[in-house]
Amino acid sequence: MKRLLKLVWFWAPLLTVNLTPALGPAADKADPKALFEARCSMCHPLSRPLEKKKTAAEWRETVTRMKGLSGGKISDAEAETVIKYLSETRGK
Ligand code: HEC
Repeated sequence: MKRLLKLVWFWAPLLTVNLTPALGPAADKADPKALFEARCSMCHPLSRPLEKKKTAAEWRETVTRMKGLSGGKISDAEAETVIKYLSETRGK
């Protein structure tokens, strides 16, 4: 029982994040494209990522760097969604 409680506490913040209303405009989490467009146009035009083709590993590196720059405006889950989206649509 104690273990189960620990597990619940561990995951509680994640649940909270998922229930929090979207941070930005058009940040529909069900739509990776909309999420990408909302998060990745905050500092530079979307052409910045769109003009590139990268491997999944390279996108992971870039998006992780952008997440760091964003000062918390891009969550872990959102970064994962964008990495997947870009790897699939702008992969090489
Ligand atoms: C907080 C501001 C900020 C946000 C948000 C941001 N970027 Fe950037 N981005 C930058 C800055 C500053 C640079 C240039 C410096 C650098 O490359 O680190 C850059 C450069 C880039 C580059 C060119 C460099 C490279 O490695 O190819 C790509 C591609 C890119 N961003 C993609 C993205 C994607 C995808 C997202 C959304 C997940 C995103 N950015 C969100 C600030 C941001």
